[in-house]
Amino acid sequence: MNTSNTFFGHPIGLRTLFLTEMWERMSYYGMRALLVLYMTGAVSGFNPGLGWSQVDAQAIYGIYVGMVYFMVVPGGWIADNILGHQKAVLIGAFIIALGHFTLAMPIEQSFFLGLTFVVLGTGLLKGNISTIVGELYKNLDEKRDSGYTIFYMSINIGSTLGFLVCAYLGEKIGWHWGFGAAGIGMAFGVIQFIKHRNLLGDAGMHPNEMSDKKRSRLSTYMYASLVGMFLVIGAGLMGLITVDPRFFAEKFAYFLTIVAGVYFVYLFLFAGLTASERKNLILLFLLFIGAAAFWAGFDQSAGSLNIFARDYTDLSVLGFVIPVGWLQFANPMFVVIFAPIFAGIWAYLARINLNPNLPIKFAIGLLFMALSFLVMIIAVDIALESSPVGMQWLVLTYLFQTWGELALSPIGLSAFSRYGPKRYMGQMFGLWFLASAIGGVMAGLLGGEALDGGLETISPVFSFMIQYYLVIAIVLIGLSFIIKGAKENAN
Ligand code: PHE
Repeated sequence: MNTSNTFFGHPIGLRTLFLTEMWERMSYYGMRALLVLYMTGAVSGFNPGLGWSQVDAQAIYGIYVGMVYFMVVPGGWIADNILGHQKAVLIGAFIIALGHFTLAMPIEQSFFLGLTFVVLGTGLLKGNISTIVGELYKNLDEKRDSGYTIFYMSINIGSTLGFLVCAYLGEKIGWHWGFGAAGIGMAFGVIQFIKHRNLLGDAGMHPNEMSDKKRSRLSTYMYASLVGMFLVIGAGLMGLITVDPRFFAEKFAYFLTIVAGVYFVYLFLFAGLTASERKNLILLFLLFIGAAAFWAGFDQSAGSLNIFARDYTDLSVLGFVIPVGWLQFANPMFVVIFAPIFAGIWAYLARINLNPNLPIKFAIGLLFMALSFLVMIIAVDIALESSPVGMQWLVLTYLFQTWGELALSPIGLSAFSRYGPKRYMGQMFGLWFLASAIGGVMAGLLGGEALDGGLETISPVFSFMIQYYLVIAIVLIGLSFIIKGAKENAN
């Protein structure tokens, strides 16, 4: 292979995907860091926000994150059957940029419309871009895992950039500048993708084979659902229907849980699985619960922890008050620092034959998550005595959460593809994102609950979460002794 035409020794197309995902995550995390600050910001003053209650704002944040990851499921289906993955990524990126530019308009009415565009665009982009990464390695299987590791770095470089630029502009100049910066970032991603798309070759070009008639019928369904959706949103914007955000978030959480539950039951009972495939499915079901619970804690970063940073944390560094969103740097920074260390630890443990199996790694992830909220409970206690507290508490919280992420997240998807029933492989990807969706909406509900009564109500909610993490971790550890087959060697 011609080395000048590779990307860190990988197929050159990886560079195109790396940069596209970097800009997409820059815009996603940059905007997300501003979301609850904007919604709950005072309506008057230098940078007027929307003045909404914590409960409403956190619920909307949860619905937003839940929708983003839920839409990955239809987004994958549309790419598989109608558009092909490349086209889906391109259209998705374009819609995301449109969404951020809509949010950048300084009118309140553009808010939900902008969020809807970002949701739809991310649904088309996020899952499908990861699928193309896999397709680049058709004949180079042994390199695929390290390709995904490089790709994971693009996510973290992107989010760092997003926090840096969008949080600064949004908080210090004006919210809509921050949203606009996210749009410009995504626009760079779109231009870059168009320019270097040819480097992907055939990867992600062709949707599944089917008759033109069938494809055009499926497209009609797709457009009909889109029109239906925009009619509902339009009616909402015109004030014809009003929904209570918390009520909606609760129902949405039930809906997602039922979708996941029905799917698992269907697979278990009616998909004609063998006994060992059924056993693996029980394992995946428990991992699913673990992952959903994990993301419910993880997504507090732009929710309740963001508010804790704003209201109860001293943000001055050498006389300069840093933007609230900058504290979220901690996560991507720690990922970059610790990812190789974790990989090294797993590799070492594998060499001495002590590599923990899947449920144990998930349990470790959850225990770190529990620990991170224990740190927050201490910080809240101190803040109740005298607020604001130092930044080190949130940084330590994010450190533990990142360790949890590194134990759980990189193996999660491969666990689903490895232990899922073979004939349902494509859908395992959607299932993994469904766990993130449930986690996201739960994050909003729990965050609202935590902040409902100011500082006082935070610790009871966080300790409730800790108890849950411990219970699930213990169940997973117990299970790891029963399911011996779940040995996981690759990271
Ligand atoms: N940082 C990861 C990302 O943005 C978190 C994540 C993992 C999100 C898995 C969704 C699913 O990609």
